[in-house]
Amino acid sequence: MSATTAPVRLPVRRFGETARSDRWWIQPLVVVLALTTFLVYSGWAALQGDHYTFGPYLSPFYSPELLGTSPHNWFGPPPASWPSWLPFSPALLILPIPALFRLTCYYYRGAYYKAFWADPPSCAVGEPRSRYRGENSFPLVLQNIHRYVLFLSLAVLAVLFLDVWHALWFTDPVTGAVSFGVGVGTIVLAANCVLLSGYLLGCHSLRHVVGGCVDQVSRAPLGHRAYACVSCLNRRHMLWAWCSLFTVGFSDLYVRMCSMGVWQDFRIL
Ligand code: FES
Repeated sequence: MSATTAPVRLPVRRFGETARSDRWWIQPLVVVLALTTFLVYSGWAALQGDHYTFGPYLSPFYSPELLGTSPHNWFGPPPASWPSWLPFSPALLILPIPALFRLTCYYYRGAYYKAFWADPPSCAVGEPRSRYRGENSFPLVLQNIHRYVLFLSLAVLAVLFLDVWHALWFTDPVTGAVSFGVGVGTIVLAANCVLLSGYLLGCHSLRHVVGGCVDQVSRAPLGHRAYACVSCLNRRHMLWAWCSLFTVGFSDLYVRMCSMGVWQDFRIL
């Protein structure tokens, strides 16, 4: 018996046309609102150059503080040769790393392609263009830097953990004595590190890096275990991405509000 096949022509949908009856537009709308809120707040906070430390706490937007005037700085204040017409903020030296990392993340790409330029608006919903260009040409081919920014971001994460350690040591403003303690701010910064770790360590690119080392599973049980861990985190990558985005923004807000005297930091220990 012979079988014949005929090409199936899928109908070309007009922009926004769909057979879906659910409220598919809610998710892209929430993504637009959440990302816009975060971008506006983080951009504003990064440009302030002020109120980013409080006692032993340092805002994650400003860490590591390579050049700056707070006691957390690594290499001293900004050079005197810094042009006076160019506003200086320590965040501008470091924030491009986590910003690029999120911008090129496979999950966020899918989310903001849908939400911001409707490519497509959602699964099985008509899109505004008829040709698919993918990410093979400029500028989207630049998204491939994600795997390189991953390593820089892991270094920044290590510094954030160091900040949590520093956030355990409080200086008495009167006597100058340093004592161990835990404040609400310490918990906020530590929670941020935990959620950022879940996000970074579940990265698709890290999975490929680790997976590439375990071609022969029987010969690399440790590597296989690491691959399983990354894969396990990767299954909830979207959740880690959003939770860590919230905590990193909230950590800055917390330090900022305490520094401005709007909120009070309570010592737990
Ligand atoms: Fe999302 Fe790498 S794919 S962080």
